[in-house]
Amino acid sequence: MIIGRLPKAELHLHLEGTLEPEMMLALAQRNGVPIRFRSVEEARSAYRFGSLQDFLDLYYEGMSVLRTERDFYDLAWAYLERAKENNVVHAEVFFDPQGHTARGVPFAAVFGGIRRALDDAETRLGISSRLILCFLRHLDEDDAQRTLDAALPHLEGIAGVGLDSSERGHPPSKFARVFARARSLGLRLVAHAGEEGPAEYVREALDVLGVDRIDHGNRAVEDPALVARLRELQIGLTMCPLSNLRLGVVPSLAAHPLPRLLEAGLLVTVNSDDPAYFGGYVDDNYRALGLGEAAQRHLAANSFRASFLPEEVKRHWIDVVNSF
Ligand code: ADE
Ligand code: ZN
Repeated sequence: MIIGRLPKAELHLHLEGTLEPEMMLALAQRNGVPIRFRSVEEARSAYRFGSLQDFLDLYYEGMSVLRTERDFYDLAWAYLERAKENNVVHAEVFFDPQGHTARGVPFAAVFGGIRRALDDAETRLGISSRLILCFLRHLDEDDAQRTLDAALPHLEGIAGVGLDSSERGHPPSKFARVFARARSLGLRLVAHAGEEGPAEYVREALDVLGVDRIDHGNRAVEDPALVARLRELQIGLTMCPLSNLRLGVVPSLAAHPLPRLLEAGLLVTVNSDDPAYFGGYVDDNYRALGLGEAAQRHLAANSFRASFLPEEVKRHWIDVVNSF
């Protein structure tokens, strides 16, 4: 497969979702945080999910071991080293500050550790990046506003905001004001939509929040007019095949909508979401789709097209992809 050799961007990656069980156990010990798993095997065997909420319960439990600036550095650095092995040359990564500040971890410790790792990756690994602050949608909008307040002193290191966590019952419109404020601050906007929630949430993310990109967007396929609009506007969809399979969002990889949407001319991309929990990093997600070389090249080029890189840098990487 050509995919291992192609440069690519990863655009949908939750740093907290890269916490491998080995690191979870090591940090639990380092920080004296009790966890219910006594071994890596025991943790991994718990990674069976019937729904998004099943996964999220474990994801929030896992992140309880992250306490210090150094922990966030180590977490992000471990991901960036894996990304390098996958020939990721640009990463636009999410973090969930509310998952940490609610436990008494200062915003500055979370942001500082991640930011330092991203800066080191640029110089030591040659990986450029953007950092995207996600609001947890199961919490209320005031909590999101306070999180944006906490981010204000650090905005030079934050490219955008996103929306994640439990989708059903928490439509994008619940966050209309905080997204409008983020836009007025010059931030880029993305949102998880149409993962478990209906196609209508994808419409709301576009119309009410005015997002630049949709995370997942699988269920847009249920609405042909919406699919036509996503194609027309070339809205990036950051899709995550192994995540969708493990969370029961698609019945099988063969049924995944990505190949059809790619064929139809939408700006779809391949990403790993929470690779420590879903059994694969970004190249594994490409391989899982079983597509031919032309499609792999097309998807790697799309990863740059849909990124927040400057146009001339996009052009450079797309040319490199097409030279393979
Ligand atoms: N947080 C981390 N991974 C997520 C996903 N796949 N959907 C929603 N929220 C998330
Ligand atoms: Zn996600």
